[in-house]
Amino acid sequence: MNGSEFAGKAVIVTGAAQGIGRTIAEQFLRQDAGVVIFDLDDELAAETARQLSPGGEPVVSVGGDVSRRADVHRAVETCVERFGRLDVMVAHAGIAAARPLLEIDDASWQRIMDVNLTGVFLCTQEAGRVMARSGGGTIVVTASTNAFWVESNLAHYNTSKGGVVAFVRSAAIDLARYNIRVNAVAPGVVLTRISAWVTENPALAADYLKHIPLNRFAETIDVAKVVLFLASSNSSYITGQTIVLDGGQTLGIMVDAPEEPIPGTGLS
Ligand SMILES: NC(=O)c1ccc[n+]([C@@H]2O[C@H](COP(=O)([O-])OP(=O)(O)OC[C@H]3O[C@@H](n4cnc5c(N)ncnc54)[C@H](O)[C@@H]3O)[C@@H](O)[C@H]2O)c1
Repeated sequence: MNGSEFAGKAVIVTGAAQGIGRTIAEQFLRQDAGVVIFDLDDELAAETARQLSPGGEPVVSVGGDVSRRADVHRAVETCVERFGRLDVMVAHAGIAAARPLLEIDDASWQRIMDVNLTGVFLCTQEAGRVMARSGGGTIVVTASTNAFWVESNLAHYNTSKGGVVAFVRSAAIDLARYNIRVNAVAPGVVLTRISAWVTENPALAADYLKHIPLNRFAETIDVAKVVLFLASSNSSYITGQTIVLDGGQTLGIMVDAPEEPIPGTGLS
């Protein structure tokens, strides 16, 4: 798109080989940004980069694990080497697992914290150091409605996302002096492989949709649009915030109250 504020800017998206992250990367490319696709699955990341660059669009893939500082550092270095700058870090990669609280083992708990929370810290710190030297930037992190509206059997996931929301507030305060804004998106159910257990089960999906006022699950583009807003100057005075995009799911309980006077009100 001509005249985009992202034209000539450089963006890293973690977890961008597929799902929401891939759509975020695609949207930045459409705005003429240079994009680093960073993902644990290096083959899929490379394939995605090829697919998103049919006309030679400026995209490069880096394989690595967001929970390892050396890997995150390499992604940031690659971005600066390839594009000469880093303007936006989208710390999106995350994993989930379902297990009753009393059965969660140490390794699962630790892995979810390492990827979902430590990964966000490492991405923010490594990107923040480059942005601080170059006059600023924006960081957008993927949290989840599970940060405040918890679901059963997801204690490790819920906790990691609650930590992400507190981290984003902390990072926003500490990095404001460098002209770096830090915000988060908190999606409800988005149509990707990690929510397929509910969205692709007709009975479960129908039941779940009864609790979503907009009566649909999110498409990946619904999330990407908010990420681009938070990365852009359209949100220039917003920092430390978590934007919920869940079709209204966590607003309250949806029950059809009877269309009759409630006893004792005197109303007809
Ligand atoms: N899909 C949903 O319903 C939903 C809802 C709320 C929040 N989220 C969040 O969105 C993010 C990703 O979700 P998605 O639906 O796009 O998932 P996805 O599984 O479709 O894609 C995630 C990508 O992240 C990569 N990844 C996983 N661990 C990584 C690591 N350690 N380092 C680098 N890359 C890694 C995977 O290889 C994969 O390509 C997560 O943070 C998740 O918590 C998803």
